[in-house]
Amino acid sequence: MNVLVVGGAGYIGSHMCLCLATAGHRVVALDNLSTGHREAVQWGELVVASLDETSVVAETLRRHEIDVVMHFAACSLVGESMQDPYRYYQNNVSSTLSLLMAMRDAGVAQFIFSSTAAIFGDPQSDQIEENHPRQPINPYGNSKLAVEMLLQDAAQAYGLRATTLRYFNAAGADPQGRIGESHTPETHLIPRLLRRAAGEDLSVQIFGTDYPTRDGSCVRDYIHVNDLAVAHLNAMEHGRSQPGFHCFNLGNGIGHSVLEVVKAAERAVGVPLDIPFGPRRAGDPATLVASSRKAREILDWTPRHDSIDRIVADAWNWHRRPAF
Ligand code: UFG
Repeated sequence: MNVLVVGGAGYIGSHMCLCLATAGHRVVALDNLSTGHREAVQWGELVVASLDETSVVAETLRRHEIDVVMHFAACSLVGESMQDPYRYYQNNVSSTLSLLMAMRDAGVAQFIFSSTAAIFGDPQSDQIEENHPRQPINPYGNSKLAVEMLLQDAAQAYGLRATTLRYFNAAGADPQGRIGESHTPETHLIPRLLRRAAGEDLSVQIFGTDYPTRDGSCVRDYIHVNDLAVAHLNAMEHGRSQPGFHCFNLGNGIGHSVLEVVKAAERAVGVPLDIPFGPRRAGDPATLVASSRKAREILDWTPRHDSIDRIVADAWNWHRRPAF
């Protein structure tokens, strides 16, 4: 297949390019490099463009005879979305609509979309299934839910084959250390811990000690970025034979507390990190864990790197010597 990876210079997008190329597909990355890295595009051609450059997008779809578009390019910081919601609706919703219209005009019929656990809002069950109420509590979640609704309508009206994948906490890196996670600013727990361990002047705290969890810190479902990429590959195959709109939650179905992740980071690094406790961060639910049953059954997907030690070790392998 000829696959266009929008956001292919970003963290998850670049791992997707690697996964697709390894599986024998032809990959083209499209990225405006606002947060992505040119050096991360090592598998396939890079087209430097934004989605609002509609003639470049249309030309790219036609010239490369694209069969499937995977869309990873988005703003994804909850706090920033509260401060500047227009940016989130512009970049995450309006740009996606432009892309979908260009795809319709070019006759590209399959779309795989990066969605998020943030569409569910405050969890109402221990493990979040696909049919959990979608009630986001911030503009970031709203913007992703808006696209999910758009995709449902597009599947109905235009016959778009659309699959939305709701990620829980993406983490880890290519085990060979060729690419990894590199955000500015970095807000996520595992890279912050490891960048500090690698010597960066970064003050890291454990946000909150009084959540109703086993040790008082928040529990999250960390999923290896390579396992996420494989789920997309399987979703692409599934969407070829099953038209319409599909949704899957992607996590391991196992929760780890912040304290447990700190311990895993200490094991990977080999020294104590002495992370202090701090106040809660606004907007953090106590627990967010996926039910991965549907993806396992229907996509025939099994996370291979599901231990927190493996996830953190691969991330550390990158952060101790980041190439970009
Ligand atoms: N945390 C700390 N210290 C830090 C950074 C994070 O204690 O320096 C804690 C957070 O409070 C949270 C956990 O570590 O409990 C994980 O935080 P991340 O920022 O790594 O990830 P989030 O769980 O906030 O983010 C995830 C997805 C988002 C999604 C969000 C929904 O990455 O896309 O869940 O709540 F929007």
